[in-house]
Amino acid sequence: MSEILQPQQSDAQLKNYDQLKETFHWDDIHSVFSWHETGNVNMAYECIDRHVDDGRGDHPALRYADSSREETYTFADLKGATNQAAHMFRRLEVAKGDRVFIFMPRSPELYISLLGAIKAGAVAGPLFEAFMNEAVRSRLEDSEASTIVTTPELLERIPYTDLPHLNKIILVGDQVPQDGPFYSYFNEMKASPTTDDAIEWVSLEDGMILHYTSGSTGKPKGVYHVHHAMIQHYQTAKWVLDLHEDDVFWCTADPGWVTGTSYGIFGPWLNGVTNIVRGGRFSPDDWYHTIEKQRVTVWYSAPTAFRMLMAAPKEIIEKYDLSSLRHILSVGEPLNPEVVRWGWEVFGLRIHDTWWMTETGAMLICNYPSEPIKPGSMGKPIPGVHAAIIDDQGKELPPNEMGNLAVQTGWPAQMRKIWKNETKFNEYFSIPGWYISGDTAFRDEDGYFWFQGRNDDVIVTAGERVGPFEIESKLVEHPSVAEAGVIGKPDEMRGHIIKAFIAVRDGYEHSDELKEEIRSYIKNELSAHSVPREIEFKETLPKTRSGKIMRRVLKAWELDEPAGDLSTMDDN
Ligand code: PRX
Repeated sequence: MSEILQPQQSDAQLKNYDQLKETFHWDDIHSVFSWHETGNVNMAYECIDRHVDDGRGDHPALRYADSSREETYTFADLKGATNQAAHMFRRLEVAKGDRVFIFMPRSPELYISLLGAIKAGAVAGPLFEAFMNEAVRSRLEDSEASTIVTTPELLERIPYTDLPHLNKIILVGDQVPQDGPFYSYFNEMKASPTTDDAIEWVSLEDGMILHYTSGSTGKPKGVYHVHHAMIQHYQTAKWVLDLHEDDVFWCTADPGWVTGTSYGIFGPWLNGVTNIVRGGRFSPDDWYHTIEKQRVTVWYSAPTAFRMLMAAPKEIIEKYDLSSLRHILSVGEPLNPEVVRWGWEVFGLRIHDTWWMTETGAMLICNYPSEPIKPGSMGKPIPGVHAAIIDDQGKELPPNEMGNLAVQTGWPAQMRKIWKNETKFNEYFSIPGWYISGDTAFRDEDGYFWFQGRNDDVIVTAGERVGPFEIESKLVEHPSVAEAGVIGKPDEMRGHIIKAFIAVRDGYEHSDELKEEIRSYIKNELSAHSVPREIEFKETLPKTRSGKIMRRVLKAWELDEPAGDLSTMDDN
């Protein structure tokens, strides 16, 4: 019998969960959006401008802070700035449906550019600032992006001369080269009016954002989302984040990842709340300082961050007044009951787990402030969503049996395609009527879902999803590497760490120096979060007869478990 914690918040916005599960339909909430009356659809307008129309233009929308900058923007300020950005993109001939990438550290300009691109009818492509040349190139190449907004510091990571489609580079900074496809963000913005005539009215099914994410094979996939997703962003931010108009909300994720857009931009702003953005890196002091200073009421973060806070000396937390917090949530990896207990001890609040994916676009299975939670469980599906555990033939399994975590298709924020890769897209829907998540889980007799693992080789490390293939491909480009296989190794702090098994070429030593060299090579070519924290040299790696590295066997080696069926293994 698992532990059950009773809800703390009797005034939460999700009421009558059991009844809503039976009766709610997404169409029921269309009337809250301005397009319901006007017919004019645009996510960015709905996030920003409509609050100005509703007389809340003076309400703080964005409070940004890092070690050198602190700024507040009201909804009226953001309306003007995102209109200017939309004019800028139009003047630079960005057309509806064009891919506009945003590659820069968190800053007000990032948020303004992203919403400005969406206002102009473009499909925004956010790229995490830590990406290095190869990671940047493959995403820009695949998406055929025409325009990128970046900083002069990051410019050297964009191989633009090899990217024929990329012909406008907008630089947020003072040093803008005279020759080439360069434009100054600040000059272009200055030259743009704040009027709203640059807004492109789209249809709910038009493209809005493209998030690249990793699978277990092949290059990163461009997960394509449309404006329709706003219906679910809005409603889950009410039911699950429990946002009220006067809340101060902080989502710690970077917009390079889906959490940082769905709930770092759309969910909170569709609900008209003050959104906190903190620039810079993680530090317990900075984070607690942010909560205290900004009087954060609702906080959305990830288990690895909570575990790092948990591991920090107690004196740090005791310095801060964190009493503004009302509601805390988590996403991205399994939330250990231990972390939930720590949250209760130090904040006097439960940490609420939420489950979803880049592909699902928005939350699907969650713990709610109005419902009991079972620590260790991801919670129950939101009203309007039917999730189940199914076998490989699509049969729903009874309670407590482990199987594929699947969701009945048709929720509003569901991805609409994988960019230029219909085959990959169809793989998710190989069982008619279902979206197959790639996670394994079971559901208990009360309808709570319990995460068990991935059933492919995708690695979730520190809440970030990494594909082994991209790292392996890069590893074998290093002159010393003959073969490489990459797996996730369980780790107390980060959930999993990346471990690489490597067979070196003749003439190379199995040395610590070589390991270090390989690590910095991956860091420079791909990104810091793709670096294998552990490297183990092997004489040869287990392969199938067709030459594919068997990660399953590597995992079994690592965990000291039986390797299972080896009939396809090449034993030479
Ligand atoms: O394995 C699941 C894990 O993260 C994967 C999705 O990663 P990504 O697309 O990067 O999205 C992360 C945040 C939306 C899932 O297939 N995952 C996500 N949330 C949870 C989780 N694993 C356990 N518990 C969760 N709450």
